[in-house]
Amino acid sequence: MARNCCKYFTVSLVPVASVVLAVLFGLAIAVLPVLYVQLAKQYRYGVIVDAGSSHTDMFFYRWEVPRYRDTAKHFQQEHHCYSDKSINSYADKNTSEAGSVLESCITKSKNRGFVTSGQRSNTQLFLGATAGMRLVYCKNVTLGEEIMSSVNSTLAGSGYHLVSGRVISGQEEAVAGWITGNYLQQHLKHSGSSSLMGSLDLGGASAEIAFLDSTSDPRSHTPYHTNVSLYDRSYTLYARSYLCYGLNEAYRRFLAHLINGSGDVSQPISQPLPAGWDQPHLPDWRHILRMCQP
Ligand SMILES: *[C@@H]1O[C@H](CO)[C@@H](O)[C@H](O)[C@H]1NC(C)=O
Ligand SMILES: *[C@@H]1O[C@H](CO)[C@@H](O)[C@H](O)[C@H]1NC(C)=O
Ligand SMILES: *[C@@H]1O[C@H](CO)[C@@H](O)[C@H](O)[C@H]1NC(C)=O
Ligand SMILES: *[C@@H]1O[C@H](CO)[C@@H](O)[C@H](O)[C@H]1NC(C)=O
Ligand SMILES: *[C@@H]1O[C@H](CO)[C@@H](O)[C@H](O)[C@H]1NC(C)=O
Repeated sequence: MARNCCKYFTVSLVPVASVVLAVLFGLAIAVLPVLYVQLAKQYRYGVIVDAGSSHTDMFFYRWEVPRYRDTAKHFQQEHHCYSDKSINSYADKNTSEAGSVLESCITKSKNRGFVTSGQRSNTQLFLGATAGMRLVYCKNVTLGEEIMSSVNSTLAGSGYHLVSGRVISGQEEAVAGWITGNYLQQHLKHSGSSSLMGSLDLGGASAEIAFLDSTSDPRSHTPYHTNVSLYDRSYTLYARSYLCYGLNEAYRRFLAHLINGSGDVSQPISQPLPAGWDQPHLPDWRHILRMCQP
């Protein structure tokens, strides 16, 4: 029965097929350039979590594949979710709950369909923690690992594809600031740009500086020199991060110096604190002075 059925279709389709093929050929010529353009415009999705010292941000991006000269082009920010909590604040709390900082953004991204459920497992997720976590590691490595492992397990269970969850180095942060600034000013795609900018980034716990230093002799390069490749062009940058030179840490360092300079640490310090500022309560002031030596 089935065989007869197949035979019937095979036989009757042969003459039809040549007609259909001819039609398809014409169609292909007319349609393929359009199809090609549409195929070339395929997108990838990615989630970047910026785990800063005083806040946590989740960015949802979309970019075209294939990438242009090995660098994402038309990089488009689709959505943004902000939390005023930081993962490093769990150093003083229950570290196994640090991942909860990310939960509301993850839930929101699903409820609002930022990335459709079908695409979610193909969406790469990167988390970069900055100087707030670098300071926690300085203080106590075990504490840092506990926080990162809680964060990792929350991200691993998020439904997105966790590619990397780690504390980035100060130099990586400085380079990222430079790329972002120059990308946004559209200085990167043009070859021979003379208008590249240097970048200064004042964070909560650290400050970064990065600028192009391609003219100097490679023999005079310091450990702060690094190369980045963007749109097939290589740039030599001087990129450096200063731990404790962020806004909040600078204030704590200032207080630590006041306490150290007061001679008698049992006495409250009232001057020269600006009116309305809190009385410093810094049980770890000695540690701050040690850790934040330039
Ligand atoms: C810390 O948090 C975890 C997970 O919520 C919980 O199981 C544990 O009991 C908490 N520990 C303390 C000391 O509160
Ligand atoms: C470091 O953190 C771990 C985990 O919270 C704690 O058990 C340990 O006592 C801490 N070490 C120091 C030197 O504070
Ligand atoms: C977190 O996950 C990353 C990537 O999967 C892994 O390399 C890292 O060792 C993990 N860190 C901790 C503390 O579990
Ligand atoms: C950067 O690239 C230049 C030129 O190719 C090379 O001389 C230099 O050693 C590189 N520097 C680093 C830090 O890799
Ligand atoms: C702390 O105070 C002592 C004594 O007044 C001083 O010798 C030392 O240099 C101070 N430390 C810092 C980091 O300023």
